[in-house]
Amino acid sequence: MAILPVRVLPDPILKKEARPVEVVDDAIRKLAADMIETMQSGYGVGLAAPQVGILRRVITLQMPGDEPFAMINPIITNRDGERIVREGCLSVPGWTGIVKRAITVTANYLDTEGEGYTIDSATELLAQAIEHEVDHLNGIVFTDHLQAHIDLWKAGEEPEPHVHPEIDFEREAANDEVVSDEDRPQIEGEFFEADEALTDEEFESDDEPEPIVHADLAIYQQADLDLLDMEVRRLRSQLPELEMS
Ligand code: NI
Repeated sequence: MAILPVRVLPDPILKKEARPVEVVDDAIRKLAADMIETMQSGYGVGLAAPQVGILRRVITLQMPGDEPFAMINPIITNRDGERIVREGCLSVPGWTGIVKRAITVTANYLDTEGEGYTIDSATELLAQAIEHEVDHLNGIVFTDHLQAHIDLWKAGEEPEPHVHPEIDFEREAANDEVVSDEDRPQIEGEFFEADEALTDEEFESDDEPEPIVHADLAIYQQADLDLLDMEVRRLRSQLPELEMS
């Protein structure tokens, strides 16, 4: 296995549509294995092949406490409901946004042996991650879903707390559910009032977790991270000031 460099915004490959996998062969199995190692190196819960420069419809996922797995040619066959969630992305490291996602998601896919499977009515983080990664296969990054200036922020530059009544922060905290591990150290206790949002003992401690330094991760190039910041700041400046949600 190998750790692959992760492309970050504004890399144009992130805006391209990926092609279906025709044969699940050793090359695809190696890609999936490398993507899993890369995803884990970046503390991500999901990764899509375009993020490592491969325009094929392959995604990998790993929910906290679960085994990683790959979905080849994933197709979302049903989405139900709407919710507002926090989201991060290995291609937008250090930044966090607020986006709308479905409550339940059903998807078909092939595993790395070419067997067909269905994930029926996924919820919570898994539903969010499937939508997020399938978006990547269609050239869509979570920043494309943002509606307001205040709903995109960088670690250490959190906006004034603002109301998102749709988000059940207590439930999120209780389930240790933040979409991307890369964002977790920066989010806890800073943007949200700890006594309201964080019920987990771990988060009641005074020990601030060490923020992840993305430039230190093997998957990133420092030059890319500098470009990313310029690009995301430009993007944020184009979003409306008023909160839309
Ligand atoms: Ni992503």
